[in-house]
Amino acid sequence: MSELRADWAVIGGSGLDQLPDAEIIARVVDPTPYGATSDDILLLRLAGRTVAFLPRHGRGHRLAPHEINYRANLWALSQLGVRNVFSVNAVGGLTPTLSSGKLAVPDQLIDYTWGREHTFNQRLEGMVQHIDFTYPYSSSLRRLLLKALVQLDVPHDDAGVYACTQGPRLETAAEVRRLIRDGGTMVGMTAMPEAALARELGMDYAALCLCVNRAAGLDATPLSLPDIYGILRSGMAIVREVLLEALRTAGEHQRQNQQKAQELSKLLP
Ligand code: HPA
Repeated sequence: MSELRADWAVIGGSGLDQLPDAEIIARVVDPTPYGATSDDILLLRLAGRTVAFLPRHGRGHRLAPHEINYRANLWALSQLGVRNVFSVNAVGGLTPTLSSGKLAVPDQLIDYTWGREHTFNQRLEGMVQHIDFTYPYSSSLRRLLLKALVQLDVPHDDAGVYACTQGPRLETAAEVRRLIRDGGTMVGMTAMPEAALARELGMDYAALCLCVNRAAGLDATPLSLPDIYGILRSGMAIVREVLLEALRTAGEHQRQNQQKAQELSKLLP
């Protein structure tokens, strides 16, 4: 196992398989007990800190959402010391406010995936451990993303329900109507089991989602894959800026958390 460490990680989604302007400190290729990660993990110098970067689909987008080894990815990041994860996901919009090109920071999710390795099945003293997943996304990391979006004046939805489907096909119009009835506000294929695995490993995790299309059947015009790729390209440039800004203020966030913990410990007998 590498001696190299990082406190923060970015898991890049479709359209974000590299962060080109960052200095590469190291390339980490560590096998895990769960198999291989989607690609090598790059340790980058970003916004004054070391950040682990892992493209979820592999460089060149080789892996479909159901083929991703989410357990290996999260495990490898945790072995590097990662405690905080920003996840980037491309999504389809389910609400009138979430139009193509807009960003969103979900606060909830619904899992419709099946057949994915979805747990480390941690056992404490032989007993199955159940994690609390009431609030799947970290409120402090979400605040960092929202602050960065406001700071950069980027239009966004400041909350939302991520409906995670199995893919790799897009949904039928009837499925989309059902997701909306269920309370979904965006639909994607990669939030789960990633978010739950991060929670099992005790990591803070939040997602920055880029809407690349209105979900199937919501617009009169049919879905256009060239349009989706175009929005991915332009939107991910903004996503990179937002991540950099959030990472810049992350130090402050960490200092405040440490200070709060110290003050709390002084109050304790
Ligand atoms: N459905 C599912 N996943 C997606 C979509 C969609 O419409 N757009 C981007 N990822």
